Amino acid sequence: MLSPRFGNSYVISVISIVLILGSVAESRVVSSKIESFDYPAINCRKHSAVLTDFGAVGDGKTSNTKAFNAAISKLSQYANDGGAQLIVPPGKWLTGSFNLTSHFTLFLQKDAVILGSQDESEWPQLPVLPSYGRGRDAPGGRFSSLIFGTHLTDVIITGNNGTIDGQGSYWWGKFKKKQMKLTRPYMIEIMYSDQIQISNLTLINSPSWFVHPIYSSNIIVQGLTILAPVTSPNTDGIDPDSCSNVKIEDNFIVSGDDCIAIKSGWDEYGIKVGMPTQHVIIRRLTCISPDSATIALGSEMSGGIQDVRAEDITAISTESAVRIKSAVGRGGFVRDIFVKGMNLNTMKYVFWMTGAYGQHADEGFDPKALPNVTNINYSNIIAKNVTFAGKLEGISNDPYTGICVSNTNIEMAANKKKLPWNCTDVSGVTSSDVTPQPCALLPQKGKFECAYPSDKLAIDKVQFKTCNFKSSNLF
Ligand SMILES: *[C@@H]1O[C@H](CO)[C@@H](O)[C@H](O)[C@H]1NC(C)=O
Ligand SMILES: *[C@@H]1O[C@H](CO)[C@@H](O)[C@H](O)[C@H]1NC(C)=O
Ligand SMILES: *[C@@H]1O[C@H](CO)[C@@H](O)[C@H](O)[C@H]1NC(C)=O
Ligand SMILES: *[C@@H]1O[C@H](CO)[C@@H](O)[C@H](O)[C@H]1NC(C)=O
Ligand SMILES: *[C@@H]1O[C@H](CO)[C@@H](O)[C@H](O)[C@H]1NC(C)=O
Ligand SMILES: *[C@@H]1O[C@H](CO)[C@@H](O)[C@H](O)[C@H]1NC(C)=O
Ligand SMILES: *[C@@H]1O[C@H](CO)[C@@H](O)[C@H](O)[C@H]1NC(C)=O
Repeated sequence: MLSPRFGNSYVISVISIVLILGSVAESRVVSSKIESFDYPAINCRKHSAVLTDFGAVGDGKTSNTKAFNAAISKLSQYANDGGAQLIVPPGKWLTGSFNLTSHFTLFLQKDAVILGSQDESEWPQLPVLPSYGRGRDAPGGRFSSLIFGTHLTDVIITGNNGTIDGQGSYWWGKFKKKQMKLTRPYMIEIMYSDQIQISNLTLINSPSWFVHPIYSSNIIVQGLTILAPVTSPNTDGIDPDSCSNVKIEDNFIVSGDDCIAIKSGWDEYGIKVGMPTQHVIIRRLTCISPDSATIALGSEMSGGIQDVRAEDITAISTESAVRIKSAVGRGGFVRDIFVKGMNLNTMKYVFWMTGAYGQHADEGFDPKALPNVTNINYSNIIAKNVTFAGKLEGISNDPYTGICVSNTNIEMAANKKKLPWNCTDVSGVTSSDVTPQPCALLPQKGKFECAYPSDKLAIDKVQFKTCNFKSSNLF
C-alpha cells in the first residue's frame, strides 16, 4: 500500500502556528482589502498573492486568462521556497483554461466566482489520454480542462465555498448537436501528480466531468457542492481514474451523470497502461442523479479497480446505488469493493451489475479480454420506493463472483415489477435479513454480516494543518 507523503509537515506546521499566533492581534486590511484568514489544508504556504495584483478584472466579461497565467507563473518561482497561494477575491473572473504549479494553493474566497470562457481559442488542445486511446466525445484530441495540472506535487484548490462555474450550456449544446470535433473540457483535471486537495468549493455546470484526477496519488476531495442540471450530458461529479489513495468525503452532488465514477482506462489502451484505481474511501456522500449511479465502478476499468470502501451514502431520485459496469474486451478487474450504510429513496435499481456495457474505444479491443469481477460486499442498506431490488448480470463463462449482501431492507414501489431480483452469471451469498428475498444465485445462508475492512487507509490518516493568509506575506 502506498503511504501518503505530505512533505515537510512538521516544519511547515510549526511555521503556520507561529503565523497564526502572529495574526491574532492584527487582522489588517491591505490594498486589495483582504483581511487575514485561516483555512485547513494539507500544506501551508509562505508566499501569497491576490489575483487583482496581476491586472484581473472581476466584471464577468473581461478575460482573465492572462492574469491567471501570469500569477501562477510568478508564484511557481516560490515552489522550492515554502510555496505560494493565490487568493481569488469576490468578483466574477472570466477565464479560459489555465495550469497549476507545484506547492501551490488556489483559494477562492466566498463570493469569488471563476467563470469558464465560452471562447474556444481560450482552451489549449491536449493529446488523448494514453489509457483511453481516444477522446470520449470525438476520436482526436481534447480541450484542456478549465483548471489543469500535470506532473505536480502538493497542489490545493480550496476556498470559503467560492464558486467555479463552467458555463457548460455552450458545450452541452454543441455536444448534443454532434458538433464537437474534440472532446469537451473537464472542469478540473490533474494528471501524474501527488498530494492533491480539492475542498470547500461550489462547482457548477461543468462542460463535461467535474473533477478528474488521473494517474495520481494521495488525493483528498472534501466539502464540494457540485451542481449541474440532471439533463446535462456526461456531467459526472468526481472521477478518480488510475489513482491510488483517494479520500472523497462530505460532498453533495446533483448531476446529469454518475455522482462518482471510479475508472482506470478503456479496453486495450487501459490494459496496456495497467494503472488501477485503488485504496479509495468515500463517505458521507449525498447524490441526486435520476439517470445515473450514485457510485459507478467502470465502465472504463481496464487497468483494474480494487479496495474501494463506501460508507454513509445517501441518494434521492437516483437511478442506482453502487453500480458495476463492464464488458467483454475491457479486461482488468473489479475486486474487494465494500459498501456499508446506504439510505436510498426513489431508485430504479438498488443493486445493479452490468456485463455488456458496450461502448468500445475502437474495433481493436480484444474479445478474449474478460474482466474479473469478484468480492463485492454490501451491508446496512435501507431503500424506499424501488422499482427493481437487484439486476445482476455477469458475463457468460465469466461470472461475477463473491457477491455478499447483508442487513438490507428494500421497500418496493407501488408499481414494482413482478420480479424484484433478476440474476444471471453471478454467484454469492446473502444473509437472512435481506428483503425482498434474493434471487436463487445469491442464496440466504442464515444471519451474518458481510465483512468490511477494519483497518484505516493511509489517506485517512492525513491531518490538515491550519493555514493562514496574511497580507504581509504578499510575494
Ligand atoms: C498547460 O500545460 C499543457 C500541458 O503541458 C500545455 O500543453 C499547455 O500549453 C499549458 N497551458 C499554458 C497556458 O501554459
Ligand atoms: C456552499 O454553497 C452552496 C451553493 O450556494 C450551498 O448549497 C452550500 O450549502 C454551501 N456550503 C456551505 C458549507 O456553506
Ligand atoms: C471546509 O469548511 C468547513 C465548514 O466551514 C470546515 O469545518 C472545514 O474544516 C473545511 N475543510 C476544508 C478541507 O477546507
Ligand atoms: C416513487 O418513485 C416514483 C418514480 O419511480 C416517483 O414518481 C414518486 O414520486 C415516488 N414516490 C415517493 C413517495 O417518493
Ligand atoms: C479473479 O480474481 C480472483 C482474486 O484475485 C482470483 O482468485 C481468481 O482466480 C481470478 N479469476 C480468474 C478467472 O482469473
Ligand atoms: C433477466 O435478465 C436477463 C439478462 O439481462 C434478461 O435477458 C431477461 O429478460 C430478464 N428477465 C426478466 C424476467 O426480466
Ligand atoms: C465479504 O464478506 C464475507 C462474509 O463476511 C467474507 O467471507 C468475505 O471474505 C468478504 N469479502 C472480502 C473481500 O473481504
